Amino acid sequence: MNRPIGFFDSGVGGLCVRDACIRLLPCESTVYIADSANCPYGGRPPAEITALARGHVRRLLEYGCKLVVVACNTATAAAIDTLRSEWPEVPFVGMEPAVKPAALKSRTGVVGVLATEGTFQGRLYRETCARFARNTTVLMCVADDFVALVERGETTGARAEAAVRRRIEPLLAAGADILVLGCTHFPHLRPLIEKVAAGRASVLDPSDAVARQVRRLLSERGLLAVEGSVASHRFIRT
Ligand code: DGL
Repeated sequence: MNRPIGFFDSGVGGLCVRDACIRLLPCESTVYIADSANCPYGGRPPAEITALARGHVRRLLEYGCKLVVVACNTATAAAIDTLRSEWPEVPFVGMEPAVKPAALKSRTGVVGVLATEGTFQGRLYRETCARFARNTTVLMCVADDFVALVERGETTGARAEAAVRRRIEPLLAAGADILVLGCTHFPHLRPLIEKVAAGRASVLDPSDAVARQVRRLLSERGLLAVEGSVASHRFIRT
């Protein structure tokens, strides 16, 4: 039960998901792999991402992880089916853009989704839109430049704000009142995104919902850490 929860992402983006899990589950230890050497994943072919993802899962299992969070929308789109069939005994939690809650919440009937090309190409995303956003206009915005900003740690300042404005303004002009952060790098730019969208749109980040899903799965399987355990957090960067 006191084995760690594993996370991986193409870089530091998924730390927002890990941090949401730590807030909700303070007794749980974590191991996080930031594959910065191979970042970005956004434009890579799915087979390549799947090969990288399998390597990360193998490594996380060597650390004894009891559950793996694919803390990357792009890697989830490309690889989660393969990971689940290769390791049927391991619980996996993936990420997908929060299109369903956005469609339910929108009053204008227009939502903007910010994600990578790979996420938009994925079956999961297309199916979610078809099922839950039939009566909603979903505007897709590939914001790969945000990934580079976040990897450099450039989440404030004039250049970052200009990049955010360039992506967000057209969505707002088209009537979007909800902006979905469909890439785990983007919550790191949330203060800037909220500044630009202030009074016009609200921002949806699924990190807390993912943390609740982790808690649900661990609890169902009797894998929650013993109450009062002292957690440790390991960070590995390629
Ligand atoms: N953080 C990843 C995601 O959630 C992708 C960033 C990248 O392109 O590497 O989609």
